[in-house]
Amino acid sequence: MTEQFPEIKHLFEARSVAVIGASAKPNKIGHKLIKNMVDDGYKGRIYPVNPTGGEVLGFPIYKSILDVEGEVDLALIVVPAHLVFAAVQECAEKKVKFLPIITSGFSEVGDKEEERKIVEYARAHSMRVLGPNIFGFFSAKASLNASFGPGGIKHGQVAIITQSGALGVAMIGKSAVENIGLSTIVSMGNKSDIDEADLLDYLVEQEETRVILIYIEGVQHGEKLVRALKATTPRKPVVVIKSGRSARGAIAAASHTGSLAGADEVFDDVMAQCGVLRAETIQDAFNWCKFLSDAPAPQGKNVAIVTNGGGVGVMATDAAEKFGVNLYDDQAVLRQVFGPVTPDFGSTKNPVDITGQAGEKEYNEALTAALEDPNIHSVIALYTETAVFTAKSLSQMILENYWKYQKKGKPISFSIIGGHNIQQSMTELSQHKVPVFEDVYDAVSVFGVLYRYHHNAQKAVETPPDYPIDVERISTVIAGARKEGRTFLLPHESSVVMEEAGIVMPRSGIASNLDQAVLLAKEIGFPVVMKVVSKDIIHKSDAGGVALDLDNVEEVMDAYQAIMHNCRRYDPAAKIKGVEISEMIEASIETIVGARQDPSFGPVVMFGLGGIYVEVMKDVAFRALPVTRTEAMDLIKEIRSYPLLLGVRGEKRKDIEGVVDTVLRMGCLIRSIKDISDIELNPLVVYDHGDGVKALDVRILLTHR
Ligand code: COA
Repeated sequence: MTEQFPEIKHLFEARSVAVIGASAKPNKIGHKLIKNMVDDGYKGRIYPVNPTGGEVLGFPIYKSILDVEGEVDLALIVVPAHLVFAAVQECAEKKVKFLPIITSGFSEVGDKEEERKIVEYARAHSMRVLGPNIFGFFSAKASLNASFGPGGIKHGQVAIITQSGALGVAMIGKSAVENIGLSTIVSMGNKSDIDEADLLDYLVEQEETRVILIYIEGVQHGEKLVRALKATTPRKPVVVIKSGRSARGAIAAASHTGSLAGADEVFDDVMAQCGVLRAETIQDAFNWCKFLSDAPAPQGKNVAIVTNGGGVGVMATDAAEKFGVNLYDDQAVLRQVFGPVTPDFGSTKNPVDITGQAGEKEYNEALTAALEDPNIHSVIALYTETAVFTAKSLSQMILENYWKYQKKGKPISFSIIGGHNIQQSMTELSQHKVPVFEDVYDAVSVFGVLYRYHHNAQKAVETPPDYPIDVERISTVIAGARKEGRTFLLPHESSVVMEEAGIVMPRSGIASNLDQAVLLAKEIGFPVVMKVVSKDIIHKSDAGGVALDLDNVEEVMDAYQAIMHNCRRYDPAAKIKGVEISEMIEASIETIVGARQDPSFGPVVMFGLGGIYVEVMKDVAFRALPVTRTEAMDLIKEIRSYPLLLGVRGEKRKDIEGVVDTVLRMGCLIRSIKDISDIELNPLVVYDHGDGVKALDVRILLTHR
């Protein structure tokens, strides 16, 4: 039987709320919850529950939720931890839909068992749990402040999802100070059931929400989150703040892919893949949300900076480069637009310097000229304090221009720098939701995210390719390795896996005697390479078990005997299966393609250039799987050393398409074979465009069971 769960919208649009643990004592959380609901104008039914009965804020207190006559959509649970399970059982009997559990004292303090028991019971009775360990939630749509945070939350278009309760409460306060209206704020606490993905699925459809801000501490169901984010970001901007840059997952990792896959590196790359805007600071996140919730969509990429000071203009130019904001540079058009409003000692080059003497008239003229010109799509206006404006006239000028821009649908941001007058203007303007910042960097960074969001949202929808893989054949190979107690595959076993994945390896075979070695070498074609095959000899070169560049039968015979002799002397007890003979590979650019099961995001793929690029520079990038062809291409382009693949110093462009194909095939492989924890092609040699790629070596590790 498939479980039937209520849709998340019934949580945010609840028609009736019970509070289990309601209290008449004003200092109790069970009191504050009811007070917030009443004060913030909740129109649904409120049912306080407490075995002692009585009354709270004019509502009769029910001795049990079972005494409530009507239906109950959600029950806020605020009794001590040891009483929660019994309360959940009663809620099941009452057929409650949602259980926001405020109570702390579960998995966050080590009691995973009680939490698991509650969630399992709730789910078995078609109820969903929010939390436990939360401050509650707020929904503007239902005027429902079901939290014990501050009251009087301003309604608006930003939704906040937070894993941290304390920070969430602080963000309610900060949004009030910044004059940001909220459509929703929801505390996820221990995320025992409802998580970010469930909430995104609702918020993407919810009309009131224009921008979503998520504070995450850790990702539990990464694959589900990636799916939800990919579905949301083309429709609404998602800003994420994540704390914790520790290298979980890198510990004791047995491959490059593993050791480079620090939790934060993977998180960062996967968020970018999903079109998420990751903020480093809470201030950035708030600036971005505020701007994105009101800014019109730019009609093109050309941005003009208008300034009264050269210094801040240069700072804004630097910031534009950092945030990928395109400064318009058609000098002829700029001269035509700004020439008439710029003094001779100013500059019409972008940043357009209307000079320190610019007052209200000059700013109005320059900003109007930029507004009217169709070649300029966005404007950043800077002002460093001079004696020309009073606080009042500055606010007036900015406000009027801002509204003109809003009306015409052209985005603009402002940065104003100076003393008391500026502070006064900032306060006034923020009351009118004008995107005005003290720092030039902030006025530019909001455009960085606006452009990134619109660029991501315009990407065509693409289906990840699927390559058929003979899972049974690979499983037989893996079963053989497991039988021998190994959690890694030997070269000949790996070759089978690579063949199935369609990844080209050098032609090779295993010879167990001299005659076979000669025959094989002739079959493969000279020159060849020989390597000892023994699970007891890990460092083959150190043991003298490798011979390169063998050009003829005599050299093969000599090398075979030398390898056997060296290896027996190196480790007399080693079991030697024979010698692997492979074609000798021509040198070219060496890369690494890895795929692994990430602890947070499930299967991920990694790409980097080999040698020092990966060893020293850690120049690698990650993507969550499955990836589309475009995402695989973006992965390759993302590394800093990408230009080497385009061909430098007269070299030809390399076979980047071959790398894309390999990335896609590795992705399909690790997704199809759950027994594989890590695969790494190192090196994957990339030849000139059209000549393909070849994986010289592959390392396949199995999951520990
Ligand atoms: N059904 C309903 N109410 C019950 C009950 C039951 N079975 N058993 C007891 N109650 C009542 C109590 O009588 C009390 O009411 P009263 O104030 O009128 O006496 C009320 O429930 C609360 O119980 P109490 O024992 O007084 O606990 P408390 O209010 O001191 O603490 C919590 C309860 C849930 C607030 C506390 O355990 C907790 O977890 N605090 C942390 C909350 C938090 O920070 N969450 C995360 C935020 S990010």
